[in-house]
Amino acid sequence: MAAGTRPWWATGVLYEVYLRSFQDGNGDGIGDLAGLSARADYLAALGIRAVWITPFQPSPMADFGYDVADYCGVDPRYGTLETFDAVLDGLRRRGIGTIVDFVPHHTSDSHPWFREARSSRSSPRRDWYLWRDPAPGGGPPNNWLSQTDGPAWTLDPATGQYYLHSFLPQQPSLNWRNPDVRRALFDAMAFWLDRGVAGFRVDVLQGLLVDPGFRDDPPNPHWREGDPGFMRLDAVNSSNQPDVIEIVAEMRALLAAYPGDPVLIGEIYRPVETLVAYCGTPERGLQMPTNFNLFSTPWRAEAILDLVARYEAALPTGAWPNWVLGNHDIGRIATRIGRAQAAVAMLMLLTLRGTPTLYQGDELGMEDVAVPPDRARDPFARFGPGRGRDPERAPMPWDEGPQAGFSTETPWLPLPPAGRPRSVAAQARDPMSLLSLTRRLIALRNREPALQQGSWTGISAGGGVLVYDRHHAGRTFRVVLNLTAAPARIDVPADGRAVLSTHRIDPPGVSDGSLALAPDEGVLLRL
Ligand code: GLC
Ligand code: CA
Repeated sequence: MAAGTRPWWATGVLYEVYLRSFQDGNGDGIGDLAGLSARADYLAALGIRAVWITPFQPSPMADFGYDVADYCGVDPRYGTLETFDAVLDGLRRRGIGTIVDFVPHHTSDSHPWFREARSSRSSPRRDWYLWRDPAPGGGPPNNWLSQTDGPAWTLDPATGQYYLHSFLPQQPSLNWRNPDVRRALFDAMAFWLDRGVAGFRVDVLQGLLVDPGFRDDPPNPHWREGDPGFMRLDAVNSSNQPDVIEIVAEMRALLAAYPGDPVLIGEIYRPVETLVAYCGTPERGLQMPTNFNLFSTPWRAEAILDLVARYEAALPTGAWPNWVLGNHDIGRIATRIGRAQAAVAMLMLLTLRGTPTLYQGDELGMEDVAVPPDRARDPFARFGPGRGRDPERAPMPWDEGPQAGFSTETPWLPLPPAGRPRSVAAQARDPMSLLSLTRRLIALRNREPALQQGSWTGISAGGGVLVYDRHHAGRTFRVVLNLTAAPARIDVPADGRAVLSTHRIDPPGVSDGSLALAPDEGVLLRL
């Protein structure tokens, strides 16, 4: 694809709205679609191009919506189809697309399809899920593990067979080798596309198919004491089947029938070398196999430079990179790397080559919020220390009023402690806040083709300072990130001019071809 003609999802910034914790609109302590509509101006002021909204379909909430009981509806706790359409319209009027979280890997065990499937071995929907007889002598059919750390199989006593689930037993895996299943889920995608959504974030895409022979997973040689128990096995047979790319091609064919170049984002946890296989070809692959590799890379200049260079080298022709620093499943970036580095991380996310996905609250510097055991909500908290995902799901602190402006009632999860981070209202008044920096940076990015789609060149990583260039049509930006808590000095071309700093309103000057950086400071220069 020629530079200058990149589509909206490549040039714009995406934003993840974790719906339950964004804004409560009806005073029940839980974020909802009306609340999201009420905050549309906030999203517009950020300058983002699209929001991905976490699941809002009817669900018993065993996994807070990632257990869908009806793919074509809205859970009454979140709103109605009308309130969804209002979100869509309100955002569209502000130039923001709406991306739906689509959960095709499993349904809820209360979905009518599963109820029918489990009703008898001869049910016409039996084969919509994955059933196996017990192993000879009893017990689960093979060694596959679910993210509960126990077997990925649960016995259905009434019919005497086990069904497969990669997550909770309440999330039975669909059988994607059954053409009727594919058709039903493609119809559900068409339902949302007909309403005008800008695309999908596809949950657990890498797990849609399993080994047709149900062979055991081998041990994972990289597993270490302290890692989640389910990672003891290398999920080569229970997940990660190469033919998933054919399903992706079918989804892309469906999307291609709609205007506006809808996007397909796939949730995939893989190292960059194997992640890029999901890019396929530009017409048939994922536009965005999510690149989560910054989660697992040490926050050191050499390690990050090496990661970016390996990713850039691995991307097939025509494929477009993407970067993510946080989501609702992983501890907050400001906690992982320390508060002081949050602004440097934001500058990095918004200046690497590729589409950035910003997780709600990271623009405020939100940290993990300690959740006392009696207020824990995530069922995965039961499976071991650090497994619960409540801390990164705390509600947004909007202002200094009751319940931080999130709700009129006690929120479903504890709010962040007062002032940590400062609220949206307080940060909006302070030109040096992380929120103001994020707004300035996105505005600059939206004006500068070099930052949106320029080439990326790694320059150096010495002394803990990461340096790279972005270049397009005769314009070059240099990004200088001090990833350490010590001051640093770095050589830069004498004609370089700083345009933005994480630490000062007036960016520092370049004198004698060198730039002095404060601890934890990032600077953007024009060369
Ligand atoms: C994805 C979601 C996560 C959910 C899981 C099962 O990883 O991001 O929140 O628990 O899928 O649907
Ligand atoms: Ca609500």
